[in-house]
Amino acid sequence: MAAGALGGRIADAAEPQTTVAASPLAAPPMATVRIGYVGIGGQGSGHVRNLLKIPGCRITAVCDIRPERTDWATKQITAAGHPEPTAYTRGPQDFVRLCETEQLDLVYNATPWEFHVPIMLAAMKNGKHTATEVPAAMSVEDCWAIVESAEQHRKHCLLMENCNYDRMEMMVYNMVRQGLLGEVLHAEGGYLHDLRSIKFADEGEGLWRRAWATKLNGNLYPTHGLGPVANCLDINRGDRFDYLVSMSGPSRGLQNWAAEHVPADSAKRQEQYVLGDVNVSLIKTMKGRTIVVEHCTNLPRPYSRIHMVQGTKGLFQGYPNRAYIEGRGKEDQWVDAQDLLKEVEHPLWKEIAAQAQGAGHGGMDFIEDYRLIKCLREGTPTDFNVYDAAAISAVVGLSVQSVAKKSAAVEFPDFTRGGWKTAAPVPIVHM
Ligand SMILES: NC(=O)c1ccc[n+]([C@@H]2O[C@H](COP(=O)([O-])OP(=O)(O)OC[C@H]3O[C@@H](n4cnc5c(N)ncnc54)[C@H](O)[C@@H]3O)[C@@H](O)[C@H]2O)c1
Repeated sequence: MAAGALGGRIADAAEPQTTVAASPLAAPPMATVRIGYVGIGGQGSGHVRNLLKIPGCRITAVCDIRPERTDWATKQITAAGHPEPTAYTRGPQDFVRLCETEQLDLVYNATPWEFHVPIMLAAMKNGKHTATEVPAAMSVEDCWAIVESAEQHRKHCLLMENCNYDRMEMMVYNMVRQGLLGEVLHAEGGYLHDLRSIKFADEGEGLWRRAWATKLNGNLYPTHGLGPVANCLDINRGDRFDYLVSMSGPSRGLQNWAAEHVPADSAKRQEQYVLGDVNVSLIKTMKGRTIVVEHCTNLPRPYSRIHMVQGTKGLFQGYPNRAYIEGRGKEDQWVDAQDLLKEVEHPLWKEIAAQAQGAGHGGMDFIEDYRLIKCLREGTPTDFNVYDAAAISAVVGLSVQSVAKKSAAVEFPDFTRGGWKTAAPVPIVHM
């Protein structure tokens, strides 16, 4: 196992050492980021569209098990005035050939969960930086695998957690940095989204996401809720996750949906789901602070990521967005978050909002792609790194372990190997 690389730097053997940025976890700058995109379905298509609008990058290779998706991407890329990319469509392992054959700086994937780690490992082994859709990994072992590969090959390995870049999440991070909430003591986040019809569809996520509910019982999708609040608690940058306890309730939602919507003779009706409809996990940090992370995707309900951050001077609460700061406004009454935007909007949102308009998930997907390309081009550390990818994704594997052990406490590994004690907080980044 390589020594903790948090205090070191990621170097690229192809570039002279003199160009390596002075900051930790940075790679040499590059004028143009050459990208291989793997998995061009619902989410991947949005990233392809974004990347075509971002200066300084080119998608030169595309890969999907469905040739119609690489054809679609090829059309978008050539219509934007770029050369035709090489298409890789020879089955579910063809990403290996892409990683071995192509001259690329970055392999970015939006594939089903089971392919994230194999694709990232193949990319880094072949000298490419890599970025993945969420979660990075579905087991603690795989979280270690990406950390060790990033350290060994000295490559960026990023979890593209778009919710870190949403407008309210960035505003709250700015509020925390400015001290408006005082010392942050507690946070709550989650992914509460009725996905029943999507999980039973004969296309898109219906082809792979429901299967995970037959295999694992825990929090299978923690990163949207946890990523942003982890930033507010300086996780991996002054504090880190210590241990977790997790509880899942009964599994009813998918069974009930199938009974109502799926023909009796369909193979789907034979499936046995083990995933509890509501999973609640509690994390304690090394500094003794607490985080609740919830997962609920099989029951009827409006969308929420909870998004609550509480400190010694007040709190922010999402869905709907509101805040309470002692000494401001009326006692015992929430302030609408729209009023706070005027005062504490994150500067990045002010600068980039017009460009992000119309992009996926309210613009945050464009902003995360923009920041990734900018950091790679400038050779600065990326906003988030492989240790963040491992820590927030580890909740999947650890919650499954805890649920299986009657909610026993399970410890987070220290993926940073002590680096969390000295790492600086995520900066207030700009365009
Ligand atoms: N960040 C977000 O807000 C967000 C939203 C939706 C999905 N996602 C994530 O994006 C990923 C993809 O989800 P989706 O909704 O786009 O699913 P999808 O099923 O619509 O797309 C997956 C694509 O990957 C292709 N694919 C499958 N196996 C492959 C392989 N071995 N090699 C190459 N291509 C392969 C499929 O043909 C499909 O085009 C998942 O990790 C999901 O969690 C994130």
